[in-house]
Amino acid sequence: MAALVVAFAGACIVLVLLVLPAARSDPYTRSTLELSGSAENGARLFLLNCAGCHGIAGQGLVGPNLHGVAQRKTNRQLIQQVVSGRTPPMPRFQPEPQAMADLLAYLQSLV
Ligand code: HEC
Repeated sequence: MAALVVAFAGACIVLVLLVLPAARSDPYTRSTLELSGSAENGARLFLLNCAGCHGIAGQGLVGPNLHGVAQRKTNRQLIQQVVSGRTPPMPRFQPEPQAMADLLAYLQSLV
């Protein structure tokens, strides 16, 4: 009986460890990270939406220089930066997951 209880408790711990990290990221972030992005498309999206503040080559203008930003921030943090609107004046963007994946690929190419 005691062995059963221990086995059950063990199974619960394993479940919590497996399920919690997955639940931490929202469905939008998860579906974005499952896609593979095109840096070329991302560059186009960047020119239209972001270059006004970050410069046409991401070199910084009103917004900061974005070269090396993918080394400083995780993919999740980069997605949050784009979709959250938590750091005004940068607005909140709502790109489709594929467009967000493309933007991520572009940001990663800015070394
Ligand atoms: C209206 C101006 C503006 C626009 C448009 C804009 N940004 Fe920003 N962005 C900012 C500012 C200002 C910050 C700095 C925010 C802070 O940390 O206080 C920033 C920060 C960032 C950061 C974090 C930089 C770092 O060093 O941590 C990333 C990544 C970023 N922007 C990406 C983008 C992308 C991608 C787009 C287009 C989809 C975009 N931004 C559009 C103004 C803008």
